Amino acid sequence: MCFWEMYCGQQLIKKLIIKRESTMKVTVHRKAHFNAAHRLFNSAWSDAKNAEVFGKCSNPNFHGHNYELIVSVSGPINPQTGYVIDMKLLKDLIKTEVEDKFDHKNLNVEVPPFHSLNPTAENISVVIWKQLRQHIDSKLDLSVTLYETPRNFVTFAGEF
Ligand code: NI
Repeated sequence: MCFWEMYCGQQLIKKLIIKRESTMKVTVHRKAHFNAAHRLFNSAWSDAKNAEVFGKCSNPNFHGHNYELIVSVSGPINPQTGYVIDMKLLKDLIKTEVEDKFDHKNLNVEVPPFHSLNPTAENISVVIWKQLRQHIDSKLDLSVTLYETPRNFVTFAGEF
């Protein structure tokens, strides 16, 4: 092997190492919790039709859930901090954007997006994702998992 082949080989290995480091993607997760009341309801339908489609979930006097939330942020590790995102910032963001707005609230009545949007777990996860997305670096991926019951949960990771 001549010098140039050795040199180029080393450069190639160096490039591969740099590429590998820069494309490493790590996901961090933060759990949160809130209690809220809701009623599943389509205003275009009669009470009978709502009862037929949503059953007990359409009780006009509302009912509550203990929602469990998992917020997941993916991206490269910042070489200066060793973090994908500062978990303290993520914790504070979840508190101001989700817990303060949703906890112990009647979603249909007190949380504006649900004045006109049926507060299913699907729609709640999208609303939470949109609230958080605008505060998280666009270079980082965001995914939200929302448990309405221990067995029923949904995930939203952005529009497709
Ligand atoms: Ni419900």
